[in-house]
Amino acid sequence: MDEDLKTIIKGEILQVQDLPTLPHVLNEVTKLVEDPDVSSEAIAKVISTDQVLSAKVLKMVNSPIYGFPGRISSIQHALVLLGINVVRGIIISTSVFDMMVAAMKGLWEHSLGCATACNIIARRAGFEDPEEYAVAGLLHDLGKVVTAVQLPDLHKTILETVAAKDLTYLQAEKDVMGFGHDRINAWLARHWGLPPNIREAMSRHHAPQLAEFYKPMSCVVHVGDFLVRLFEFGNSGDDQTAYLRPEALIELKFKMTDLDKVMDEMSDQLVEVSDLTF
Ligand SMILES: [Fe+2]
Ligand SMILES: [Fe+2]
Repeated sequence: MDEDLKTIIKGEILQVQDLPTLPHVLNEVTKLVEDPDVSSEAIAKVISTDQVLSAKVLKMVNSPIYGFPGRISSIQHALVLLGINVVRGIIISTSVFDMMVAAMKGLWEHSLGCATACNIIARRAGFEDPEEYAVAGLLHDLGKVVTAVQLPDLHKTILETVAAKDLTYLQAEKDVMGFGHDRINAWLARHWGLPPNIREAMSRHHAPQLAEFYKPMSCVVHVGDFLVRLFEFGNSGDDQTAYLRPEALIELKFKMTDLDKVMDEMSDQLVEVSDLTF
């Protein structure tokens, strides 16, 4: 693809700070966390100035996805239990909820389902901080939303290409733009200063074997995305059969019986999160 077009698209995408529903607080928090000595009290104070946002964050952290259902009573408590990266990911995802629902029917459910799956998979694999895996799952298709909002004409062409050429959404993005939402995710994650593990999982969820530094997280999101598509929970933009990279299962040391157990847990939890809206 020609580099000029790519530069133009990147420029449009990164106007994302102007999106009307992104809270002012997000920029302040992004700046605050650049200081390694900043306290969770200071961050909690900034987030708590936005009451609507605080209510959304508390609703999300108390959902079954994060393993503390109904037990987190304040932003400060959420920061201590889940960490700033998880809380920041939740601020981003709940803030784009309206846009996501308007842009692509079923993508919110797909994202929630993927977060649920990632939490279950990370726990089963014995990884620490499964909440970080969940938030990577929540954000994994964010690039699709931002394209839909910032570049509606291109988004329309991508959807038409999915139907006309019988492609996956990712293949159609590459056909139309020369790259996919995985690349866009990397720009967005860098723009918001998300940590490198979440950034790499967002940009490598379709090719986890290429992850360089945080392969386990990329593999968890890949498997989570695969399973939530298999469940047909929500919609990620096409009706193609999901594919699973065998390298991801090897990385997680999963056998087929592990996948069965994960799917059993998913079928219970997906019911519980299916009406989680913002
Ligand atoms: Fe994706
Ligand atoms: Fe996805």
